Amino acid sequence: MKKDTDFIDGLLGRMTLSEKIGQLNLVTPGGETLTGTVVNTDVAEKIKTGRIGGIFGVKSAEAVRVFQDLAQETRLKIPLFFAEDVIHGQKTIFPLPLALAASWDMDLVRATARVAAQEAASIGIDQVYSPMVDVCRDPRWGRIAESPGEDPFLASRFAEAMVEGYQGGDLSRPDAVMACLKHFCGYGGGMGGRDYDAVDLSPATLHDVVLPPFVAGLRAGAGSIMASFNTLNGVPMHANRAVITELFREKLGYEGLVVADYTGILELIAHGVASDRADAARLGLSAGVDLDMVSETYLDTLEQSVKAGLIGEAEITAACRRVLEAKLKLGLFDDPYHRLDWGRAAQPILTAANRKLAREAVAAATVLLKNDGELLPLPEPKSGKIGSIALIGPFVEDRVNMNGTWAVAGSPSTVVPIADGLREAVGNAVGITIAKGANIVDESWLATRLNVHDWKDLSVVIDIRSPEAMISEAVAAAMASDVTVAVIGEAREYSGESSSRTDLSIPEPQKKLLRALKATGKPLVVVVMTGRPLSLAEETLLADALLVAWFGGTEIGHGLADVLLGKAEPSGRLPATFPYCVGQVPVTYAHRPTGRPTPGRFQKFTSGYVDLPDDVAQNDGLYPFGFGLGYGKVAYGPPRANRTKLSGDDRLEMTLTVTNLGDLPTSETVQLYIGDPVASVSRPVKELKAFRKVALAPHAAATVSFVITAEDLDFSVAETVTDTRRRAESGAFDIHVGPNSRDTQMVRIIWDGPQSGGKRS
Ligand code: BGC
Repeated sequence: MKKDTDFIDGLLGRMTLSEKIGQLNLVTPGGETLTGTVVNTDVAEKIKTGRIGGIFGVKSAEAVRVFQDLAQETRLKIPLFFAEDVIHGQKTIFPLPLALAASWDMDLVRATARVAAQEAASIGIDQVYSPMVDVCRDPRWGRIAESPGEDPFLASRFAEAMVEGYQGGDLSRPDAVMACLKHFCGYGGGMGGRDYDAVDLSPATLHDVVLPPFVAGLRAGAGSIMASFNTLNGVPMHANRAVITELFREKLGYEGLVVADYTGILELIAHGVASDRADAARLGLSAGVDLDMVSETYLDTLEQSVKAGLIGEAEITAACRRVLEAKLKLGLFDDPYHRLDWGRAAQPILTAANRKLAREAVAAATVLLKNDGELLPLPEPKSGKIGSIALIGPFVEDRVNMNGTWAVAGSPSTVVPIADGLREAVGNAVGITIAKGANIVDESWLATRLNVHDWKDLSVVIDIRSPEAMISEAVAAAMASDVTVAVIGEAREYSGESSSRTDLSIPEPQKKLLRALKATGKPLVVVVMTGRPLSLAEETLLADALLVAWFGGTEIGHGLADVLLGKAEPSGRLPATFPYCVGQVPVTYAHRPTGRPTPGRFQKFTSGYVDLPDDVAQNDGLYPFGFGLGYGKVAYGPPRANRTKLSGDDRLEMTLTVTNLGDLPTSETVQLYIGDPVASVSRPVKELKAFRKVALAPHAAATVSFVITAEDLDFSVAETVTDTRRRAESGAFDIHVGPNSRDTQMVRIIWDGPQSGGKRS
């Protein structure tokens, strides 16, 4: 008979205090990627004595079985659960989360999470530390690579799709894994873009910008969340009872697990809010953090704290109950080995279907920023219109960087390099000449830092040849070819955890390469590998066609060849503003108006930068949020509203026609933004409220409609972090529709509703 909650009650009744505390201990056996200096020891011994509840970072089915067998030797035989950082794929690596968000295709996002779940579950993983849904408006922060970007609405849709994909609607399925929304919360707003740094946010911004993706993930049924490393308005999140327990659990109804981040409980001492390990453990547990990751402060101190009357056993029981309930939902009490057994039978790893999805994801995520003279797509190889391609840059034969950051189980050996993909696509019809052209970076100290996670293969290898010799070889290859494709960018660990940058430009050796390639006069396609928005002002001038390919994962070679040759369209749209330069960040299209708004170009005594050239937007960067071209030519008809006044439960329908005037099929991401020009507080100039990705055959038109309700008009009026009140205010609202956040057409409507709302939590 299937175990149920009565079973949990019975089990809890039989557990000693120390067994309950043991369930709250989450460890890693170490090895490979570690993100902190503390590592757990004596893991096997601790399992056998009931002092571990879950393990993360176990890399094989065999190891999972060995650890689970040990748990079966304990008095109560409570199974372990296994977690892993599956961030954008397990073995089949998909484009980075930021890139997947750039697809604006939530069916695709969901499908990638489903594949990742199946691959991970097949080696016995029960929980993944994903999706990361930290809204981030400062691309200096390296972890923007793992995030869905700058916008709470896009991030919310991403959160739902990922949770649905991972959990598959039923966590007890052997191919389902528990999602973990992270990092809760505010982590994307650290001072100076530095990782782990302090975050100060008004309560309303917390509710309007930071929390929506967590709430969306909660409503999609996410089984767990992870606390974040930062302080929020002075209170470290691992000790933040107001936000974790009073707001998220008690007011918003979250019932799942709360996991600490790596040594996050222990770090309460360094944060200056706990005097010692016992104090840290007590604060963490009281805040509502159920599982102590790596620190082992719960294990070492909670029993003593109960005896000393500093903490009640009931709090420990409550946390333990949530751990046991998670194991119950995961089907582990019925059969601790069911994922392993299913995986052995199904063997869902790196299948042709998984690779196909990864290949499609590359095109869907790639953003075309410029395409002068319709240089892309390149002519069909057999057309005779192109005889040779110079494929240049430090990434063209690379496997190690292609998976990007946080691909802990992904292997470079399974990656299709860009050169292989292109060669395969053109066959004998087109000659391809390859040259490295430049090192990713020239500084050896920087290379050492960027190679931090490379045990076998290095991602940054400084060539024994001089920079000049490499450039000469590349220039000769370009001169002898019809078109140059230069692949440049960041090393994979230039973004990711603890990889903040003070500069957002392409490293200088690669810029020099591009300048030399431009000087050849040959048509130049520039492909950018990156984990963050970069400042691409010079590259925009140098390139005839400019693509942002992020880090595309296992199938990058095939996927990019599809894009270059027009077998697939680069249909991504920027999920975060690409600034003109680093001095513009933090930056977002959804900024509040100032009392002295910039008229577009610089004008003295308006908000902006005196040293930004006139053709650069002062506050939405070089390329705005939502921007991206396609291979079609899309024209927008005028947006029409079926009514211009609404009140109560009215629904306003906004309709417009988009037409592909081009000869190639295309897909267009139609975006709808709302602005509230007069309100009791100064509201962001525009906020994304809906989008639709539509396929358009050559010369075809499609009618797109959006429904707007009062919920799309309201905003937080929170005065404290736990205040969930929202309000839509009567008056004018501007509905903007267009291909990106900058180039929109506007219709004004009137909301005639009650002045105070508080409708939603
Ligand atoms: C990261 C988390 C990750 C954890 C476990 C931490 O350093 O912040 O995102 O899940 O390590 O690897």
